[in-house]
Amino acid sequence: MNVMEMRDAWGIDHIVPGSRPDPGPPGPREVLIRFEAASLNYRDLVMAEHGYGRMGSLPFIPLSDGAGRVVAVGPGVTRCALDDLVCPIFLQGWISGALRESYRGTTMGGDIDGTVRDLGLFPEAALVKAPKGWTALQAASLPCAAVTAWNAVMTNGTKPGDVVVTQGTGGVSLFALQFAKLAGATVIVTSSSDAKLDRATAMGADLGINYTAQPEWARMVRDRAGRGADLVIDVGGAATLDQAVRATRASGTVALIGVIGGGTAPLELGRVVTQAIRLVAATCGSREMFEDMVRAIDAHGIKPPIDDQVYAYAEVADALSALKRGAHFGKICLENRV
Ligand SMILES: NC(=O)c1ccc[n+]([C@@H]2O[C@H](COP(=O)([O-])OP(=O)(O)OC[C@H]3O[C@@H](n4cnc5c(N)ncnc54)[C@H](OP(=O)(O)O)[C@@H]3O)[C@@H](O)[C@H]2O)c1
Repeated sequence: MNVMEMRDAWGIDHIVPGSRPDPGPPGPREVLIRFEAASLNYRDLVMAEHGYGRMGSLPFIPLSDGAGRVVAVGPGVTRCALDDLVCPIFLQGWISGALRESYRGTTMGGDIDGTVRDLGLFPEAALVKAPKGWTALQAASLPCAAVTAWNAVMTNGTKPGDVVVTQGTGGVSLFALQFAKLAGATVIVTSSSDAKLDRATAMGADLGINYTAQPEWARMVRDRAGRGADLVIDVGGAATLDQAVRATRASGTVALIGVIGGGTAPLELGRVVTQAIRLVAATCGSREMFEDMVRAIDAHGIKPPIDDQVYAYAEVADALSALKRGAHFGKICLENRV
């Protein structure tokens, strides 16, 4: 099968076409899929630079997220059938319940090879059927960003009338915007770009704040939300945590999702303690959360926020460079054009 891989060295510039033996045939409760599409997450940039310590080894096929058609099933498979469009889950070991230490070592495009390849053999338990009527390109946007957003919005009990703040207009945040609207929340979006804020407003955001023009955006959140936000979904880390805490109401929640603006943050602990602010973290989500999310997508016709520029698998390095430049809106996706 064809793959795109880092063979001799890490780094975006070292991603080259390659060939590997076809996997399969599937054994008991295994499923062989032909990948048709993939999508990027910020994490894929870090992985390409071998930035997560010891995770991953060369040769390495990048990207955690993808979608493909079932082309063969092993004995005893009941969760999917030939020709179904399915997605491998991000943490292959996390089926339900809370995250456990034992699920480490099972991340797609990290501990194990990613999705920029023609074929993949998976346990049926680690696959989820795509939403009804979705294309492979659309389904490929889901496993990491959307499930993380679903986890952050739903596990924290978002309800009608709540005020939710999402940061930036990347994949996680635009899915979070849609899920929070679905839960009946008022949603405030921050971005460095007024044009992107206009697009977020067109998707349902109730207020957009330019965080470059308004570095103390927490004040604007409080002006709008009165008592403060019920939930702030923090992807900026060191760059945003102070404002996230200031924007949050007493007994409200800051969901720590990303560290795009740095991983070590000074924090005004007095405010956190006296306002009883909950700091919780989310690392993607389980298969069960993924399935709950797909049911909600089916029921409410949510559309994935896919960037206008779509790449071929062979252009994965260009796609990662585009993610690094940060001009995108939502998910950067790739097609396996064969
Ligand atoms: N915990 C998890 O399970 C999990 C899962 C997925 C992702 N993440 C993390 O979540 C973060 C976002 O991931 P992604 O894939 O959605 O990234 P992405 O698509 O590359 O989007 C990143 C966006 O972040 C915004 N941003 C950058 N600096 C910012 C700041 N100081 N304040 C507010 N927004 C800022 C930018 O929005 P504008 O261009 O609009 O300014 C940018 O488009 C990353 O740190 C990633 O590692 C975590």
